Amino acid sequence: MDAREMKIKAAEAALTHVEDGMRLGIGTGSTAEEFVRLLAEKVAGGLRVEGVPTSERTARLCVELGVPLKSLDELPELDLTIDGADEVDGKLRLIKGGGGALLREKIVAGASQRMIVIADETKVVETLGAFKLPIEVNPFGLVATRIAIEKVAARLGLSGAIALRMSGADTFMTDGGHYILDASFGRIPDADALASNLNDIPGVVEHGLFINMASLAIIAGPAGARTLT
Ligand code: 5RP
Repeated sequence: MDAREMKIKAAEAALTHVEDGMRLGIGTGSTAEEFVRLLAEKVAGGLRVEGVPTSERTARLCVELGVPLKSLDELPELDLTIDGADEVDGKLRLIKGGGGALLREKIVAGASQRMIVIADETKVVETLGAFKLPIEVNPFGLVATRIAIEKVAARLGLSGAIALRMSGADTFMTDGGHYILDASFGRIPDADALASNLNDIPGVVEHGLFINMASLAIIAGPAGARTLT
C-alpha cells in the first residue's frame, strides 16, 4: 500500500463516523483532502452535512466537489472535526501546522464536540518533536517574539533553529495574515509545558501543539487502519 492509499484508508474509516445532518469541521492537508473527496461522493449520494473548512485551500476543494460549506460564525458549534496531523503520540497529543492552517484548525477543533485525526503510520511517534513545531506569529515584533520563544524553550531545556517559513522567495503568510516560525527543537519531553508557555508569549498567535483536543486517531498502515484513543 503506498502513502496515498494509506491516507485514503484512514479517510474511509473516518467517514464511518459521519452521520446524516452533522455539522463538520473539515481539516487541511493531503489526508484531509482524501476525506473531502470521499465525503463529496457521499454528499452526491444524498448525505446531508454542513462543513466548516479550516483553510481557504480546503474551502476551494469543497466548493469544487460540492460539499456544502458554512462559516464558523454561521455554525459555531460543530459535531465533529476530521483533520490530519504531522505527528501524533500515544496520548493523542499532536503536532499540526505543516500546511500552515494551525490557527483555524485549532479554532474549528475547539468548537467541535469531537476531533478525529486521520494519519498514516509514519505520523505516530513516542515523543513529539521530530517534526518542526510550527508557531504562528504576528508579523509585528517578529524578532522579539522569536527571542521570547527561544527563552521559553531554553527554560524547558530545548534548543534548535527557529526558521521563518518561506514560500519561494516570499515569506509564507497564513490565511489569517500571520507568519509561521518552524522550531526544530527535536524531542519535546514536556509538550504540555511548552504549549502553555508558548501561549503566554504575546506575539504568538497560536502554536501547533494540540493537547487534549483529539478524541480518536485513525492510523492507517500497510495492514489496514487501527484506532488510538
Ligand atoms: C495543516 C496540517 C495538516 O493536517 C498536517 O500538515 C498533515 O498534512 P498531511 O495530511 O498532508 O500530511 O496540520 O496545517
